[in-house]
Amino acid sequence: MRKNFGAKPWTYPQPVLIIATYGEDGTPDAMNAAWGGISEEAQLSMCISAEHKTTANILARKAFTVSMATAAQVVACDYVGIASGNKEANKLEKAGFHTTRSEFVDAPLIDELPMALECRLICYDPETCRLVGEIVNVSADESVLDANGKIDPDKLEPITFDPVHHTYRKLGETVGNAFRDGLKLK
Ligand SMILES: Cc1cc2nc3c(=O)[nH]c(=O)nc-3n(C[C@H](O)[C@H](O)[C@H](O)COP(=O)(O)O)c2cc1C
Repeated sequence: MRKNFGAKPWTYPQPVLIIATYGEDGTPDAMNAAWGGISEEAQLSMCISAEHKTTANILARKAFTVSMATAAQVVACDYVGIASGNKEANKLEKAGFHTTRSEFVDAPLIDELPMALECRLICYDPETCRLVGEIVNVSADESVLDANGKIDPDKLEPITFDPVHHTYRKLGETVGNAFRDGLKLK
């Protein structure tokens, strides 16, 4: 027997994306977003509410960065999801986050979050809350690279959002090889 839960915004795993922006006066802001993901080879789509400070910043600066939330920074990553830059002027300072300007887009990188996508705004629709960004660059701190210079998820420790229990979880271990394991059945 299956149990029906009705229409819910539930998938596993959901990402924990930290969107960082500059305000018109240059103040950095960040927010937590679970509703989003890759939607083209060099494109990311998210659903972000029109009333967020982040949204106003993106529309003003036409750019944003998207960092992967990490286990080490879970408290700060949750904080930026429950406090708004519209009300809290020192939001990033309170989160303990420091920023460095992206070399590629007019948006800040969060120093404490080692992997980020640097994006240019393609479009935003306030009716549907859909934000689409062009991925201009992906950057990662050397501390989370493996011996071959690739991003190592075991070092990065990205977290996922559990929308059923409202918790954050670490990624689990490798259980298969993509585009390969299925070949056994082809
Ligand atoms: C786990 C989690 C996931 C969230 N996902 C989203 C989301 O996908 N879209 C959205 O608009 N807000 C989302 N939020 C809410 C924003 O992060 C929150 O309203 C934030 O305060 C906005 O900050 P700002 O006004 O400084 O931009 C989420 C919050 C949390 C804690």
